[in-house]
Formats: sequence, C-alpha cells, structure tokens
Amino acid sequence: MDAQAIASTRALTALTLPERLRDVEGSPTLALAAKAKALANAGKPVLDFTAGEPDFPTPDPVKRAGIRAIESNQTRYTPVAGLPELRAAVAQQVNRTRHTNYSAAHVLVSCGAKHALFNVFQALCQPGDEVILLSPYWVSFPALVRLAGAKPVIVPTQEADGFQPDLAAIRNAISGATKALVINSPSNPTGAVVSKARLEALAALALERHLVVISDEIYDELVYPPAAHRSITQLNPQMADCTVLIGGVSKTYSMTGWRIGWAVGPEPLVEAMTTLQSHSTSNPTSISQHAALAALTGEQSSVAAMRKEFLARRDRLVQGLAALPGLRVKTPEGAFYAWCNVRGLGQSAQATAQQWLDEALVATVPGEGFGSSEHIRFSFATSLQTIDDALRRLDSWCRKRSS
Ligand SMILES: Cc1ncc(COP(=O)(O)O)c(C=O)c1O
Repeated sequence: MDAQAIASTRALTALTLPERLRDVEGSPTLALAAKAKALANAGKPVLDFTAGEPDFPTPDPVKRAGIRAIESNQTRYTPVAGLPELRAAVAQQVNRTRHTNYSAAHVLVSCGAKHALFNVFQALCQPGDEVILLSPYWVSFPALVRLAGAKPVIVPTQEADGFQPDLAAIRNAISGATKALVINSPSNPTGAVVSKARLEALAALALERHLVVISDEIYDELVYPPAAHRSITQLNPQMADCTVLIGGVSKTYSMTGWRIGWAVGPEPLVEAMTTLQSHSTSNPTSISQHAALAALTGEQSSVAAMRKEFLARRDRLVQGLAALPGLRVKTPEGAFYAWCNVRGLGQSAQATAQQWLDEALVATVPGEGFGSSEHIRFSFATSLQTIDDALRRLDSWCRKRSS
C-alpha cells in the first residue's frame, strides 16, 4: 500500500460511524420519491404518488407575510423557542381546537414537526429506555427513537380493526423500561383516526403506567367528515401534564419548505428541549416564523378548500383501487394517504411497487419502511387527472399480469 492509500484508509477509519447511526437508514419515502423524480427528469411520463406534502401553493397572505418579514428586516435571531407571539398563537390555536389550557411557555417552535420530534426524544430518552410505536408507523419514528439511544418497541395494529391501537397488545409490550408511547392520529400511512373510546383507554393506561404520550397531530386539520379529530390532551387536564403534542404548519397550510413545527407540553420538558435547540439550530428561520404566525392568525379558507379537494381525490382513488383485482383499501379518515393492501397479488409490497414503477410508471411507496410488507402507500397529494391516469395504467397492468 502506498503512502497515499494508507493515509486515506486512516481517514476512513477515523470516520467510522458511531453505533447509533449505523442502524439508522435514510428515509425510504424520500428515496422512492427521488427515484420517481429522476425518471421524470429523464423524460418518462411518471405518475407520482410518493409525495408526503400537499401539492397546493402556500396561501398568498402567508407568502406576503414572509415577504414583508424580509422587507422589514425581520432577519435576525429570534428567541430560541420562537417568537413570543408565535408561541402564544400556537397555544391559542391548540386551546381553541382542543379546549386545553396551554400558554406560550408550553410551546417550543422548531424547524418542522420532525425537528420537534427529534428534540422530544432527545430530551426524554436515555440508553436502555423503550418507546412504544404502533405499526404501521411513520418511517421516521423508529429512527428518531434510535437516534436518542432508546429502543423502539413495535406493537402492531390490525387492518380488520381499522388500524386502531390494540390496548391489550400495548399493555403486554409495556416493561419497566418503557418511557413513552407514540400515537399519530390521523396516521401516516394508514389515514386512521383514533376513536374516542381508544383514546380514553390509552389515556387511562398512560396514567396508570406513568408513560409519556407523544401525540403527533400534524394532520389534525385534514380529517374528512364524519370522522373528527380528537386529541388525547383534551380528555382531561392530567393528560396535558404527561403528553407532548406535535404539530406544525407544513401540512395544514402547505408550508413544508418553510420548516416550522412545534412541540406543546409540560414546561420543564419544553425548557430542556429549548436548551437542546439552543445548541443545535437555535431559533427556526425568523422569516418562516412570521409567515407561520400569519397562517395561524389569518383567515382559514385555504384550509377548508384544500380539505375539500383532498376529499374528492380520496374518494376517486379509493374507489378506483378497490375495483382492481388483488387490491383492497380502507377509506382513510384523515391525512392524504391511501394504504392499499396488495397481499392478493401474491408478492411483497416492495416487489409490486418496483414493478408498478418499472412497468406502469406509477410511483408509490412500498409499506416495508412503515412496518408492512403487504401494503403500498399512495399519496393523493396529486391531481384528479393523475389519479385517473394511474388507475387506467394499473388496470391494464393487472389485466396483463393475469392474461
Ligand atoms: C406523521 C408525521 N409527523 C411529522 C412529519 C414531519 O413534518 P414536518 O415537515 O413539519 O417536519 C410528517 C411528514 O411527513 C409526518 O407524516
């Protein structure tokens, strides 16, 4: 080995990843979206159902607030936990919709809900702790838990039970090391909304076993009647003391790129997370905070309009998928994903999603990254035209396959 090779081997050895990063993979949803985009960029007519973000523009008044923030030089550091008026607006919005009693001091504004979750797990967990996740789960939950040195303990939900939390199974999974339980309603990927009865049972269990509940409610405004969003924080004042509610502007106001999310919870935890954030990102972007404030406090017609459009797309997609041989899909009550069971095709979700992309140019996300090899996630953050075209392509794919 020459001197240069020895030097680069040494450099690589020094770069050996720490253990907590070695078993954390990149987000599979982002990987597939990237592949679909690469094909589209190469001129292929790909129909893309991988999006984890609304396809609407950020509402004009919100954009204007961002522009105003730049023009009026709101371009410096803000307090680490966020602008006081934004923290107050988040508390007010949560109180208005959940009849809770939070103040600005219970709110930490971060760089998106994902960052808020990162802060929560880092502030709550230490090595040896266990965190209960319900599967199918949003792909980042297990990674976020592992990055905090804790162990994800996966408790399945059942399709036949509407993907509702299984209280007996959760009870069985609780050990002396269990620190927290994560719920995500409406759910990414299933679109399930946790029922009032299950929320009440979860709350009772959390209080009995002294668990922290991390309640990811980022899709709270995207719930389709007759389903209704309910938060575990609103069941009784005790629950607000042991729950961290996660929310943000990304999905509700189509602001994924602005990177504003929040955690709302007990003050000591918010203080600990603020200290953590003070040594990592500091405050989230000042301009985005002003835009988020305008989104929360401005008129809300864009939210209702987006919900109405998503509802029409949901119905078109779900009816179309259910009519295809080998596919089964439950109507999602919230979010913008259809969680389609492909077991009837006799192969894994990964294999099917790959074939759909290669043979029909329909890009979806296989369920393996969410904890299921039987399901494929379709995002309906895409046009009715794209949905109709994809249903036609998948119909002919199914026909060819069975001929
Ligand atoms: C369940 C869930 N939580 C959190 C997030 C992250 O949201 P943000 O873009 O605000 O970080 C997502 C985004 O896909 C999500 O689906």
